[in-house]
This record gives sequence, structure tokens and C-alpha cells, in this order.
Amino acid sequence: ATNRTFTMIKPDAVENGHIGGILNMIAEGGFKIVSLKLTQLTLADAKAFYAVHATRPFYGELVEFMSRGPIVAAILEKENAIEDFRTLIGATNPADAVEGTIRKKYATSIGENAVHGSDSDANAAVEGAFHFAGREQF
Ligand code: CMP
Repeated sequence: ATNRTFTMIKPDAVENGHIGGILNMIAEGGFKIVSLKLTQLTLADAKAFYAVHATRPFYGELVEFMSRGPIVAAILEKENAIEDFRTLIGATNPADAVEGTIRKKYATSIGENAVHGSDSDANAAVEGAFHFAGREQF
């Protein structure tokens, strides 16, 4: 079925000038952009967004990183969007990411890994609503 996922181009990739390259890979991958903005998470926003990871040892590092500069937030639509987008972005650790994936090309480390992709339909809806009002979802 056609469904939606939520993505962020993370601060590392924005700092390194990869917004255009990543949006191009997303378009080439057959995803339709239904919401898009340049924004920045406050530390409190990042803590809330990543609350599921609060007990992980890397949580502090993760929320500092995700709030240190602008990000691109987007909602994407495609047949099988969640799974196909996770395939397009590649493994969390860029050392394990296969050729042709966004993280293989643009990620710098396991923490600074260029892009986010939702892991379920339910999380995509919650994460999308975190960033976009209903009238911004086309
Ligand atoms: P993502 O899968 O998008 O969401 C959780 C994030 O936590 C993950 O990307 C990485 O950015 C980060 N992360 C996961 N594992 C580690 C780790 N071992 N060290 C630092 N950051 C990590």
C-alpha cells in the first residue's frame, strides 16, 4: 500500500552541504515529498523526539548532536515507504552501509549518520506530527 515515512537530514549532512544530494537521492528513489522544511531542534525537542533512547549510553551525545544546527525535516510518500526508505538510507553504522545508500555516501559515523528514517507507520505519524501541522502535509 502507499504510505508515508518521516525523515530528517541531520545536522552533520546539512553542515557538509549535502541537502541537495540527499533530496536528489530521495527523489530518484521514487519518494514523493509531501512536507518539507529547514528547522532546528532545541535540546528539549531532541530529548522528546528521542525519548525511546533515553536509557541508552549514547543518548546525551545523540540529543546534543541533533540540536547543534539546522536539519531538514520531511514527510515522504511511496508504496511501502517505511521499508523502502530504510533500504535507501542503509545501515545505522556507515561502515556497514552498502553501496548506493545515502549513509554510505554521506554519513560520517554511527552517531553522525546523515539521515533519519521512521521504523514504523505509527512512529512515522507521530514524528511527522512533531514537525508539521496538518495543513503542511500535502
Ligand atoms: P537513528 O537510527 O536515526 O536514530 C537513533 C540514533 O542514535 C541513530 O540514528 C544514531 O544517530 C544514534 N546512535 C545509534 N547508535 C549509536 C552509538 N553507538 N553511538 C552514538 N550514536 C548512536
